[in-house]
Amino acid sequence: MGKVDKHFEEAKKEHTRIKHKIFKRTLQKSLYIANYATRKKPNIIPEYLYIDFFAGSGEFGDGSKGSPLIALEVFNNFLEKSKSNNFEDIVIYLAEKKDSHRENLMKLVNLHNYHNLKTEIYTDWNKNKQKFEEIISTSSWGFLYADPYASELNLNEFLNLLEKNNIFKDVMILFNMRYLIRTIANNYKGAFERVLNVIGAKANEVEKISESHEFQKLCKKIIWENLFSYKYFVIGVALPIVRKGKTKELPLFNEVIKKQILVNTDFFYLVLATDNYDVADEFIKSYESEVENYYKDKKNVSYEKIAKRLTEVLLKVKESKETIPLYEFLIAGVTDFYSWKDIVNNNYALPTKNRIIAALNMLRQRKIIEYVNAPRHVLYQKEKNKYGGKGDLNPSKIKSKNDLETIQIKVIR
Ligand SMILES: C[S@@+](CC[C@H](N)C(=O)[O-])C[C@H]1O[C@@H](n2cnc3c(N)ncnc32)[C@H](O)[C@@H]1O
Repeated sequence: MGKVDKHFEEAKKEHTRIKHKIFKRTLQKSLYIANYATRKKPNIIPEYLYIDFFAGSGEFGDGSKGSPLIALEVFNNFLEKSKSNNFEDIVIYLAEKKDSHRENLMKLVNLHNYHNLKTEIYTDWNKNKQKFEEIISTSSWGFLYADPYASELNLNEFLNLLEKNNIFKDVMILFNMRYLIRTIANNYKGAFERVLNVIGAKANEVEKISESHEFQKLCKKIIWENLFSYKYFVIGVALPIVRKGKTKELPLFNEVIKKQILVNTDFFYLVLATDNYDVADEFIKSYESEVENYYKDKKNVSYEKIAKRLTEVLLKVKESKETIPLYEFLIAGVTDFYSWKDIVNNNYALPTKNRIIAALNMLRQRKIIEYVNAPRHVLYQKEKNKYGGKGDLNPSKIKSKNDLETIQIKVIR
């Protein structure tokens, strides 16, 4: 048996912990929403599919869990605690190319799969593409996770798997921007093609860029366009990175904990593509929970960027249409690549559902917009509330896609 990579030999790094926390909360939400929707849509296959295309060895040097075990924990907990499980099956496919990782993973899955969930472990997913395509096309709900180190993912090949049936599946992919920037700068033979493969670009889309900031911007744009042709909500969040060997002591809940020092960079982007707004919102909220630990001045979080973004969206509405469905507004309001550096350094708030709706309510109170076709059950009936007043939208009551499509926003001035 060969050695596991250094990545898994060492203790889990803080940036990986952050990634796993966001991954876990988003997966939980996706499962919960799919379970709820299964009850309402009896003609849909009552099964939840989870695929981890780059599963890893399952655990880190300090015994903490890798993504496949975190996913198993989510599913085991769900089966244990959920009052109404509407799924007939939860099926799990893990792909891991490296023998030593796969062997370790098999051992751990047997140990942690205490509900005997259907788990199959494959080697290189590229060699099993047909199988994965078939699994995806014959299932309904699900979560597809791709977390490569650097250039092992060819985005177009990956997206081909989704060609036949993807509407009910959430997709999460990690992009290593640092690798892309370095590769294009080093310019070794074949470097250019590698970068093109990772972001799913055509040669003529990338050629001219040499400045790294501009290059990163272009990569994000191409990634976004590729995913947006499959999903309504495409959101990227930058993860920071741990500075080698450095820790600092932080007081937290009366305890002093050792914290690895993070460098506020935007090298790694975790990207979510989903058709479900609540899944998108959970992704943003979980990211914010992680960023919150690092805000420079927590009390002074600024809503300025959200307000600016919403105003831009509204101006477009005014130019082009009479009204815009709340759903389209939310898509435009949250879709972006968020920079860790920017948020931490400038204390920016992220556009969560509650904040977007609170901002809209504010605009309604100022008589800049009005709501059209809003059903009574989504409106506040009492005077002053946390996110608005009487006649304003109550974010906790807006649950169904139907509501999001029915409610229209009209710009009146
Ligand atoms: C970043 S690690 C995955 C970490 C894991 N998702 C976690 O969070 O615990 C990437 C893994 O993908 C594996 N890998 C690389 N190319 C692959 C491929 N084509 N198919 C399956 N696994 C692959 C590597 O051996 C490595 O274990």
